[in-house]
Amino acid sequence: MTSNSAAWLDSPFADFTVRPAPYPTPGADEIVIRNRAIAVNPLDAVKQSTGNLMYGWLPYPAVLGEDVAGEVVGVGSGVTRFREGDRVFAYAVGMEKGADHAAEGGFQNFTVAKESLAAPMPAGMAFEDAAVLPLAVSTAASALFQRDQLALRHPGTAATTAATEVVVVWGGSTSVGSNAIQLAVAAGYTVVTTAGPRNHDRMRALGATHVFDYASPTAVADIVSAVGGARVAGLLAVGTGSAEPTVAVAVATGAKRVSLASPSVSFDGLPRRGGPSAALVRLGVRLVGANVALQARCLVRGIRTRFVWGSTLKDNEVGPMLWSGFLPGALAAGDYVASPAPRVVGHGLESVQLAIDALRGGVSASKLVVTL
Ligand SMILES: NC(=O)c1ccc[n+]([C@@H]2O[C@H](COP(=O)([O-])OP(=O)(O)OC[C@H]3O[C@@H](n4cnc5c(N)ncnc54)[C@H](OP(=O)(O)O)[C@@H]3O)[C@@H](O)[C@H]2O)c1
Repeated sequence: MTSNSAAWLDSPFADFTVRPAPYPTPGADEIVIRNRAIAVNPLDAVKQSTGNLMYGWLPYPAVLGEDVAGEVVGVGSGVTRFREGDRVFAYAVGMEKGADHAAEGGFQNFTVAKESLAAPMPAGMAFEDAAVLPLAVSTAASALFQRDQLALRHPGTAATTAATEVVVVWGGSTSVGSNAIQLAVAAGYTVVTTAGPRNHDRMRALGATHVFDYASPTAVADIVSAVGGARVAGLLAVGTGSAEPTVAVAVATGAKRVSLASPSVSFDGLPRRGGPSAALVRLGVRLVGANVALQARCLVRGIRTRFVWGSTLKDNEVGPMLWSGFLPGALAAGDYVASPAPRVVGHGLESVQLAIDALRGGVSASKLVVTL
C-alpha cells in the first residue's frame, strides 16, 4: 500500500506539520493525483493567520492548498477524460463546504481531485508552471463568465473578430488578474489593466492593450481616457483596495457590472492568535464601513457589485467550459500561458510553511510553488 503524507494545519494559527495522511480513494467522478508541484495562495495564509474567522466550517486537522499538478495514479469508475499516468493539473477544493476536506486538500503527496476541475498538461509543460493556474484561473473565469458576475461571452464565441468592447482588470499582475486578462482577450474583449510599472510589459504580453500603474493618482482618469467612450462590458477588481477605484471607473464609463475578488482592507496586520484584538476590531470597522460606502455609491448609479468565490464554477456551466472545453486546447496551442511565472521556494512538504511565510512578505507577478 502506498503511503501518503500531508502538511497538516493541526489547529488555528499553528504552523504546518508534516506527517502521514490517509491514502485517498477516488469517488466515481474523481481522480487521485500524485502531486509533483503545489502552489500557495493568499487564502492559505489568511486561513492560517485568522483561525476560524474564515473557512470556519473546516475541521482540524486540516489540509489546505488549492493548486496541484502531477500524475494521475487512480481514476474513479465514471471518469472518462483521464487515465493513470496522465500529467494533469487540478483545482483542489478540500477547503470548500461539502468537500472531503482532507482528501481533497492540495498540501499533500496524493490529492483527490474532481475530474471536472482537472485538465491535461500539454507535452513539455513543467509541473511547476501548471501549478500556478488552478485557483487563479478558476476565480478569474467565475468572475468574468458566471451569469451572476460579469456574464461575459465565453472564449471562442465572439461574434466578430473586432474587439470593440472593453473589460477592465484592476490588478493585472496578480495571479487572478493575469488569468483574467488572458480569458477576456480569448473571449474577444479589449483589456485595460493596472500593474506596477515593472510589470507593464508582462501585461501587454498577456494581451492587455493599455496598462496603468495602480498606485498612480491618475490611474482612474487614465483608464477612462483609454476606454475612450467604448462600451465597458464589465470590470474585475483584484487586490486590496481595488474595489473603490474600479467602481470609480464604472461610474465614469457607465458600466453596470463589477466583480470584486478582494476585500477593501488587508488581513495582513492581524496578530496570529485567537480572541479579540484592537487590530481585529479596527479591521472589522473599516471593512464594514468601506463596504457600506461602496454599496451605497453603486446603488444610486445602478451598478451591480458582487464578490466572487473562486470555487463556484464547479457547480455551473463555467467549470466545464473552462476545464474541459477551453484550457486543454488553448494551452496545447500556446494561445494561453501559465502566468504569473512560478518561483520554486523549496522541495518537499516541509517547504509549504516557507512558501506561506514568503507569500506574506509579498510577491510581484510570481506564484510561489513547492515541488514534491
Ligand atoms: N475571491 C476569491 O475567490 C479569490 C481567489 C483567489 C484570490 N483572491 C484574492 O485576490 C487577490 C489577489 O490574489 P492573487 O493570488 O491573484 O495575488 P498575488 O499574485 O499574490 O498578488 C500579487 C500582486 O498584487 C499586485 N498588487 C499589490 N497591490 C495591489 C493593488 N492595490 N491593486 C492591484 N494590484 C496590486 C502586485 O502588483 P505589482 O507587483 O505589479 O506591483 C503583485 O504582482 C487577493 O486579495 C486574494 O485574496 C480571491
